[in-house]
Parts: sequence; structure tokens; C-alpha cells
Amino acid sequence: MNEFDYLIKNGIIIDGSGNDRYEANIVINGNKIISIFDNSKTSIYIKNKNYNLADLNFKNVIDATSKIVSPGFIDVHTHDDQNIFVDRSMSCKISQGVTTCIAGNCGISLAPFDFSGNVPAPIPLLGDKNAYRFPNVKSYKNEFQKQPSSINISLLTGHSMLRVQVMNGEINRGATKDEINKMKEILENALIEGSIGLSTGLAYPAANDAPIEEIIELAKVLKKYNGIFTTHMRNEGDNLVESVNETIKIGKLADVRTVISHHKCAGRSNWGKSKETLKLIKEAKKKQHLDLDCYPYTASSTMLLKHFVERADKVLVTWSDKVADLEVSDIDKLAKKFKCTIDELVEKIYPAGAIYFQMDDEDLNRIISFDGTMIGSDGLPGDKHPHPRLWGTFPRVLGKYSREMKLFSLEEAIYKMTFKSAKTFGLEKRGLIKKGYFADLVIFDPKKIIDKATYEKPLTPALGIDTVINNGQIVWQSKKPTNIYSGVFLEGKSFS
Ligand code: ZN
Ligand code: CU
Repeated sequence: MNEFDYLIKNGIIIDGSGNDRYEANIVINGNKIISIFDNSKTSIYIKNKNYNLADLNFKNVIDATSKIVSPGFIDVHTHDDQNIFVDRSMSCKISQGVTTCIAGNCGISLAPFDFSGNVPAPIPLLGDKNAYRFPNVKSYKNEFQKQPSSINISLLTGHSMLRVQVMNGEINRGATKDEINKMKEILENALIEGSIGLSTGLAYPAANDAPIEEIIELAKVLKKYNGIFTTHMRNEGDNLVESVNETIKIGKLADVRTVISHHKCAGRSNWGKSKETLKLIKEAKKKQHLDLDCYPYTASSTMLLKHFVERADKVLVTWSDKVADLEVSDIDKLAKKFKCTIDELVEKIYPAGAIYFQMDDEDLNRIISFDGTMIGSDGLPGDKHPHPRLWGTFPRVLGKYSREMKLFSLEEAIYKMTFKSAKTFGLEKRGLIKKGYFADLVIFDPKKIIDKATYEKPLTPALGIDTVINNGQIVWQSKKPTNIYSGVFLEGKSFS
């Protein structure tokens, strides 16, 4: 019996490479794409055998007429470390067409972490103490493999986790030589067990006092394992340019592939600086592997911290562990309600989270259009009232930035969220529609696709996504998750 799992017929293929679209049919068997053929064919080759199309049977046929079929999107900047266990369907991501998430960004990763004391910001973004149960990457990987989610996950090792456990919570200084050696050991072990690299969150208390030498020493461990270095830089506001230079220096001296996370110009007085930073990045790219990601919004979101409040035009407080029934509200109004100054409020309700309106559209347009900028949501799934980027990022880039604003073609937009990301992060056989590649696919309506999540209603799924397939299994269809958990743990391997 010549029977295969899926035929996706009559779709418009945008294959992830950035090349022009074409019409074709796709055959999936198991977790792989096994054939791509156009309607002029009467027979096809599968594994060196010629089959008459008329003799073939498919268990399922999906009609993709006038729809785009593209590789599943890769969210290169997430904090889904814990979310994959909390909501295994990962609806916030698969509803957007995302099939792979890179977790462990901004210096914080659930693994490896062997520490029971109090944790500094921004570690609480990962969840409460019960979440910190993975002393090594192996235990994290095992738990995921026991109860996988609908998406694939890849894990960076957070610099702040290394610091906090090795320095025993004493993070307001640079690490000693001994401590750096211990951190290197833990990092190396993490890479051996499947972590894909190192991330930093140098703008936060947990790592702000780490000098550049500490980062370079740690980043040097990566080379042997083809690991990647991603960085939430020391400063994204007044010292943005200095921070970009620091990042270029780290990448160069440690000789590692580097990604600047969620590149932005924060604070009104720093608007326009992307002209300079992108020029620096473009120059550096000629000599070293340097990339960047961004999300398509002009507000950021993280923990409520004084130095972030100071530079924002407007701040929405979204959660607080101290105020259980906190309604999302403007920080000025909240301070009035609590009859205190803003500084006092920040202390009083900590740990808490906020959305900061502090970027300019022109910078965002420039950064997102930059050649090779990848898309990463930076969504915070633990927030009750999250930033809309958690549910909206990918359809927003396709619907608003590509279709409506025409900043780049749909082919280019998809490249930024598929093959560019797969090759940068070393995800083998992902990010392209190609024979022999994993069947991670999205079928969507190019005329309808758009984000619907807003600052007021952030949990609203996007429009226009028809079907999402991960590792050859349908994970999202008819506007809901199928609760099929076909995700795998991805270890970085080879790089271009
Ligand atoms: Zn960050
Ligand atoms: Cu982040």
C-alpha cells in the first residue's frame, strides 16, 4: 500500500530562504517533508522510488488553495522555560504559527540552577521558587521529554543563574577568578547536556556589576561547542552605543557568534540612535558573526524597576506579588492610590511587573527592516496581563509591517522568522520547506493575517492562521489547539 500521512495541496509556498513564492504540493510522512511537487507532475520520487500520483493514498489531505504555506516560525527570544510545562499546548505561540522557541534569554534560564536562597531581578520572571527545580540541563530535558509540549524548545544558559548560584546570591560585584572557573564548569556541562549557548541580562541587578572580562571569560567556553552568545545589553538607553560596542568587543575577543537581543532605543532622549547602532553592527558584521532580534512594538515589558520607570513616557503596572488583586493601571494613578511617591511605590509592591512605553516607531521600523534582523517576541507568559507581544508578534510582523506598511516583502518577513533564525541558532533541518527537512509548517491567509492582542486585551489570538504542523503533526487547527504534544528538545549542532 502506497500510503503517506499528509498531502498539503495547491498551496503557495514561501520556503523560508527569502526566495520568491511558488505553487506546489507537499507530502509529509512521519515527521519529515518527503516530497514537494507541482501540478504538472503525474509521478513523484520518494526515497528513490517512482510513484504514480494516481496510485498514492494519503491519510489526510489539506487544501491550501490561495493560502501561504511556510516553515513554522521560530521565536528566537522567549521566556517560555516554565510555560512549556504549564500550558503544554503553548497556545500563545502556536496560535501565531510558532513551532520552535528559544528559551533561557536575558541571562535567566530555569536550568542549570541549584540554589534555594532569594533571587534578584529579573529571575522571578521565570516563576516562583517551585519552578527552580532543574540543577542541570539534563533534568530539564528529561522532564520535557517525559511531558513534551506542542512546540520545540531550545535552551540557552543564563549568565545570571550562574552568578547567583556560584556567588551565593552576592551579586553586587564582579566574580572572582575561582567563581568564574566554577561558572565555566557549570556552563560547559550545560553545553554538553544540550544547552545551545549563553545569554546575559546585563541591564539587571543580577548581572549589572559583572565586568566585561567576566563575560568574555565565560563566552570563550562556547566556541568548542559551537554555542551562541545572546545578550540583553548593559544599557539600551543613554549608554546604548557604548553597550553595542561592548557587545561587539565580547563577540570578537571570545570569538563567538553573537546576537543582540531585542534591539531598541529606550527613552525619548535616545530616539534616533538606531542609525548609529545599525551602522556599527553592519561594520562589525564584516569581521565577525553578529546578529540581532527585535519585537514589533514600541513598549517594552519586564519587572518593575526604578531605572526603567525613570526613562519611560508612560508605565503600566501589570502585576505585583504584594498586591494580589492589582488591576492593571498607570503608575501615577497607582502611586496616588497608595498615597506615596513613585519610588516608594516601586519598593512597596516589589516584586512586580510593568509595561514601559519608551521607544519610537522610526527606530523600530529601521531595526526591524535591517538586513537579517530576526523576530523574537520576548513575551512573558507568567504575567496575568502580559504585553501583547506574547500573543501577537509574528502575525503583526506579517500583517502590519509587511502587508500594510510594506517595509519588506512577505518572503523577507518569513526569512526573518524561519531560516535566518534556524541557521543563526544552529537548528538543524528546520526553518526551510525542503525535502528531508522536518515538517514544521504554517498555513495562513496572507490577506487576513494580523495580530489582535492589544495592551487592553493582550490574550487575544491573532487572525489568519489556519493550520500549524509541528514535526508532522497538526498542533493548531480551526482556531484551537489540538493538544497534540509533538515538540522536541532541540540541541544546537551545526552552523553556517
Ligand atoms: Zn531582555
Ligand atoms: Cu527577554
